[in-house]
Amino acid sequence: MSDIHVAVLAAGKGTRMKSALPKVLHRVAGEPLIDHVLRAAEAIEPATVTVIVGHLADAVKLSLSKRMGLGFALQEPQLGTGHALLQVEPHLRDANGTLVLLSGDVPLLRGATLRTMVRRHTESSAAATVLTARVSDPHGYGRIVRDGKGAVTAIVEEKDATDDQRRIHEINSGIYAFALAPLFGALRSLGASNAQGEYYLPDLVRIYRARGLAVETLVLDDAREILGINSRKELADVSAIMNSNRIEALMAAGVTVIDPASAWVGPEVEIGADSILHPGVYLEGRTRIGSNCVVNSGVRIVNSTIEDGVVINNFCVIIDSRIRSGAQVGPFAHLRPESDVGEGARVGNFVELKNTHFGRGSKANHLAYLGDATIGERVNVGAGTITCNYDGTAKHPTVIEDGAFIGSDSQLVAPVRVGKGAYVAAGSSIVEDVPDGALGIARGRQINKPGWVERRKSHK
Ligand code: UD1
Ligand code: CA
Repeated sequence: MSDIHVAVLAAGKGTRMKSALPKVLHRVAGEPLIDHVLRAAEAIEPATVTVIVGHLADAVKLSLSKRMGLGFALQEPQLGTGHALLQVEPHLRDANGTLVLLSGDVPLLRGATLRTMVRRHTESSAAATVLTARVSDPHGYGRIVRDGKGAVTAIVEEKDATDDQRRIHEINSGIYAFALAPLFGALRSLGASNAQGEYYLPDLVRIYRARGLAVETLVLDDAREILGINSRKELADVSAIMNSNRIEALMAAGVTVIDPASAWVGPEVEIGADSILHPGVYLEGRTRIGSNCVVNSGVRIVNSTIEDGVVINNFCVIIDSRIRSGAQVGPFAHLRPESDVGEGARVGNFVELKNTHFGRGSKANHLAYLGDATIGERVNVGAGTITCNYDGTAKHPTVIEDGAFIGSDSQLVAPVRVGKGAYVAAGSSIVEDVPDGALGIARGRQINKPGWVERRKSHK
C-alpha cells in the first residue's frame, strides 16, 4: 500500500455562493465540484482519503455516501484552513509518508499534475511542496513571496498583503504535499492574528522556514487548472472551460460541432466520427453516440445509446434509451426510460415512448403515446394512437406484432395484443386482442340521415 494520504478541504462556508447548498456540492459538467477533485486524487493511488466537512456537513457526507473507503473529519466551528487540516490528525495517527491536501472547490485539477507534485516532493525530501501558478490577475489569491535566491519565504493572503506583495503574480493554488512527520505539531503553533482572524494553513510556510525546513514549489504553466470556485461567476467560468476542453477533444476526434459555445457535453459522453452537433444540444451522463449521426438544436440526451447514422431532429428529450442504426426521431419526440427504437424506425413529432420496444422499420410519425408496449417490425402506428397502459392502479402491457397497422386516433386498452399483420380501424377503442390478419373495429357505426339539414330548417 502507498504511503500517500489525501485530505480534501470541504468545511468552509462558501458565503459568496449565496446558496443553501454547500459550495462543494454545486455542479459542473453534471457532477458536484468535490467529485471532480476526488477523481483527480485517484491518480496518486492514495492509501486513505479524508474529507474535512463542517458547514452543512451532513449534506456533503450524504452526497458522498455511495463512495467506498472515504473517511470524514469534522471541523466545527470553521476557524480557517490550518485549523481544518488539524482535524485530520486523529485519522492519520499511525501514518507516515506524505499528505496531499486538496481543496474541494478546485475541480479542473488534473491527476497528472498531482503525480508530478508528489514526485517533486518525494525527490526533494521537502517538508512541504506548494503547487503555484503565475497568473495575469492574482486578485483574491494568496501570493507566493520569494527571497533573493528564489526560495519561498511566505504565503501572504490578499487581505493581509502589502501593496508590494499584491503586485506579485505568483499565487498559491491551495494544493500542497506535506511530509507527515512535522505537520501536525507545526499546525498547532499557527496563530490567527491576521485580517480574517483565521488559522491560515499557508502560514505553515513561514513556520517551516523559521525552523529551517525545506519548502518546495511546483509552478504550473496553465493556471486555469487551479481555478478555485468562490462565486457563481467562477462556477460558470469553470463550467465553460471544462465544456470547451471536451468539445475540442471531440472535434479532434472527427466530430463537427457547429457552435462550441452552446453545445454542452458531459465528461462521460462518447461520439463517433462524422457526427454533427448543432447549437444548443445537451448530452449528459453515460451517453454514447455513434458515427454519422446528426443531433439537431435543442436536443437533450441523458444516459442513452445512439447507434450509427441516426438523425435526431430538433427539440427531442431522450432519457435512458437506445436508438438503433439509421433511425430517425423527432422533432419534439420524448423517449422516456427503457425505450428502444429499432433499426431504420421513425418516431416523429409529438410522439412519446416509455418502456417501449419499437421494432425495426416501424413508424409512429405523429402524436402518439406508446407506453409499456412491445411493437414488432414494420408496424404502422397512426396519428393519435394511445396505449392506455394504466388503469389507475397498475400498468399493463400492449403487444403489437410484425406488420400490423394501427389506424389513426385509436386507443389500445392494455393488456391487449394486436396480431401479425392485423389492422385496427381508425378511431377504435380496442379492449380485446385482435387475431393475426384480422381487422379490429371498435367504434360506433356511422349512420347518415339523408335530408336532415333541410328538415331541421323547416322545424324553426
Ligand atoms: C485559500 C488560500 C489561498 C489560496 C486559495 C486558492 C488560505 C488561508 N488561503 O484561499 O492562499 O490562494 O485558497 O484557491 O488557506 N475551508 C475549510 N475550513 C475553513 C475554511 C475553509 O474546510 O475553516 C475550506 C473551504 O471549504 C474550501 C477551502 O478550504 O474548500 C479553501 O477555503 P476558501 O475560503 O475558499 O479559501 P480562499 O480564500 O480561496
Ligand atoms: Ca477558494
